[in-house]
Amino acid sequence: MNMAVMHSRAQSQIEPQPGTGVPTTPMVEFQNVSKRFGAGGTGTEVVALEAVNLIVPRGSVTGIIGRSGAGKSTLIRLVNGLEKPTSGHVLVDGTDVAVLDEKNLRSVRRSIGMIFQHFNLLSSRTAFDNIALPLEIAGIDKQTIEKRVTPLLDLVGLSDKRNRYPSELSGGQKQRIGIARALATEPKLLLSDEATSALDPETTRSILALLQKINRELGLTVLLITHEMEVIKTIAHHVAVIDGGRIVEQGPTFDVFTGHKHETTQALLSGLAGMHLPEFLMSRMTDVAAPGSRVILRVVFKGENATEPMLARLGSDLGIEVNIMAGAVDEIAGRPFGMLVVSLLADGDQLKRARDFLADHGLSSEVLGYVR
Ligand SMILES: Nc1ncnc2c1ncn2[C@@H]1O[C@H](COP(=O)(O)OP(=O)(O)O)[C@@H](O)[C@H]1O
Ligand SMILES: [Mg+2]
Repeated sequence: MNMAVMHSRAQSQIEPQPGTGVPTTPMVEFQNVSKRFGAGGTGTEVVALEAVNLIVPRGSVTGIIGRSGAGKSTLIRLVNGLEKPTSGHVLVDGTDVAVLDEKNLRSVRRSIGMIFQHFNLLSSRTAFDNIALPLEIAGIDKQTIEKRVTPLLDLVGLSDKRNRYPSELSGGQKQRIGIARALATEPKLLLSDEATSALDPETTRSILALLQKINRELGLTVLLITHEMEVIKTIAHHVAVIDGGRIVEQGPTFDVFTGHKHETTQALLSGLAGMHLPEFLMSRMTDVAAPGSRVILRVVFKGENATEPMLARLGSDLGIEVNIMAGAVDEIAGRPFGMLVVSLLADGDQLKRARDFLADHGLSSEVLGYVR
């Protein structure tokens, strides 16, 4: 066992459940997992995942974000045992899914619900019968099925569509049926593979709100994979960034996206408000200061720290002239997060004093370049 694994194991075992002081295992844990396709065959080998260590805390909404081909779907298929790791272990609620026989694997799968990008509903079945399907397969009697499915239709807001066929439903409604079906076996874990990628932004928001409600009200752990930043910043408490089969960063969403960033994370963030520099600045900016040039600074504020009074005080208290060039406020995991791009007329010494002053007031800053 390597150090990274030992570290994550130790951490996960001592982390108490909120309020109880009782240690709890994560809902999902990847221990040094690699997955290769075509290994041993004659064709070329594809490394889909490499040395993945990942923790999905119990009760969390955890997101995995990465570009197409990064290994996201493979990762999720390892959780429900559809694929087996080439090396390493995948634990679901403390159980290693790779070593289970068919019978025990079926039982673990019943405790995991899954939703898909293209909903995967059966067109010949009504909304009710689609939701009932996993229960029929599990051999549950009609009366119990009726008792389970009716409240699920209500939960997803589609009681009136009970007898409609998929072709009579909108994309968002189909995904609601998909979600109800995933919940039918009363799982403890819900997996989502790009569940909102085929939906328009407004419908995406309503589906994300539904997933959030399910997480909060039913206490279900949600593991979702997506290539959309919007999804992560709206509902994920924890995030892992995956690139080329490797997890390059993971942690609380707010920290990962406001903290020290891997270049893949930076690229994913580029759509976020305030990350893009205006073209007029980009084209004029240089890496080195020239006499009389202005410093371009990105000031980041997290949570409740207000920037503008602090910037005003750079002028009044330190005598440094500040111009605001661009800026925006956004929200990540429910907390405000903002960035301002400012220019300062300051020499090296004044710049240091300005940045120290901002840091003392909880505002981090980064020198982007210089303009004349
Ligand atoms: N069954 C398979 N056989 C061979 N290669 C595969 C298989 N499944 C996935 N891959 C490869 O593994 C890599 C990761 O794929 P995938 O997990 O689907 O990525 P993502 O979901 O992030 O787009 C890709 O290079 C893909 O071509
Ligand atoms: Mg995929």
